[in-house]
Amino acid sequence: MPKLAIHGGASAKSKAFPIWPIYDDLEREAINEVLESRDWWRDDGSKTLAFERAFAAFHGAKHGIAVTNGTAAIEVALAAMGLGAGDEVIVPNATFVATASAVLFTGALPVLVDVSADSYCIDPELAEAAITERTKAIIAVHLGGRPADLDQLKEVAERHGIALLEDAAHAHGSEWRGRRIGSFGLGGTFSFQASKTMTAGEGGMIISNDDEFERMARSTHDCGRMPGEWFYSHFIYGSNYRLSEWQGAVLLAQLTRLDEQTARRHMNGRLLDRLLSEIPGISPQSQDARITRNGHYAYIFHVDSGAFAGVSIAQFVAALEAEGIPTQAPYPPIHQLDVFRSGAYRRRLSGAQAEAAHDFLDAPFPNSWRESDETVWITQNALLGDEQDMHEIAAAIRKIAENARDLL
Ligand SMILES: Cc1ncc(COP(=O)(O)O)c(C=O)c1O
Repeated sequence: MPKLAIHGGASAKSKAFPIWPIYDDLEREAINEVLESRDWWRDDGSKTLAFERAFAAFHGAKHGIAVTNGTAAIEVALAAMGLGAGDEVIVPNATFVATASAVLFTGALPVLVDVSADSYCIDPELAEAAITERTKAIIAVHLGGRPADLDQLKEVAERHGIALLEDAAHAHGSEWRGRRIGSFGLGGTFSFQASKTMTAGEGGMIISNDDEFERMARSTHDCGRMPGEWFYSHFIYGSNYRLSEWQGAVLLAQLTRLDEQTARRHMNGRLLDRLLSEIPGISPQSQDARITRNGHYAYIFHVDSGAFAGVSIAQFVAALEAEGIPTQAPYPPIHQLDVFRSGAYRRRLSGAQAEAAHDFLDAPFPNSWRESDETVWITQNALLGDEQDMHEIAAAIRKIAENARDLL
């Protein structure tokens, strides 16, 4: 029985995974072109404008608005919907803080609901049960790149006359029933932060097919200006969320690889599903026949520690990393973050809403805890590897299963 790498044995990986981010002369030339153009600011005819159009078209959407980051994208989208004090937005409890904090930014209340047991995406039935007369929107997060149940969420949102917004920070190029995500509801938001599946270090995007929403979001992101109007006329409340030309140029180059990279991650993800499902105690994040492509910001699987001699997730992850498999931490449940536990979030609210009980914070959220405490996330660059790399990931986990007692 081969010894675990964490105990001095040879690692399960025979070669390195691709290093992220990936770049070549396309990015070099794009940056140089911006430099020499002396047009360093987002303007008409700019790289950022070209990127907005290309990214929106790639996702089958009419409009794209490039912004400074993925958090800003949600803030601008919610502000463009006119959200404010007294409103509520339904948000999954297993996500990055930005999905909820962006709601607070507008002065509205993020109402947290649990995710489904095996998809770790918002549970549509719990989302519907949380709707009140104050609810203005549901935010679906496509966790790890896996689309949430867009059929059911769209149906619920339409039946209740509220908006569906997709936080697609993890899901560039993911597809539901053959259609790219991001515009199933009112719109979708993306992040181009360094770890994401295309990046300029930071960056964000809002896409939509709705002309009025686009007009309000574009104005909000540019100090309340309106296209075609005098530069110093400001029509609505807005701020400066514009993306720089440097980032627009780099992202235009990154976009040329997205299709091929997404296809590769999806294919490797399905191979890993088959390989890891054969290991007792490992359950990959559930897929769904309606997911025709998963962009895989991460490859997520559940570990039943009982099948691994009772080792903790921290011991499992340390052993896996020693075998040469890169991981990233799952998200802690939002309701457990200090900002919610301490009550600090209430300072963003006003009137009766600031004083109300917010009983949802006392819910047990079993599946958010499952995501937080019992899943392992393999980073997206590993899924850009080849078939042998996927077999080596499975071999590393089998090795941990065989040697689990040594980790105790
Ligand atoms: C689900 C989700 N939403 C929003 C964001 C915010 O994106 P950014 O870091 O670009 O602000 C992130 C970033 O990690 C995220 O994971």
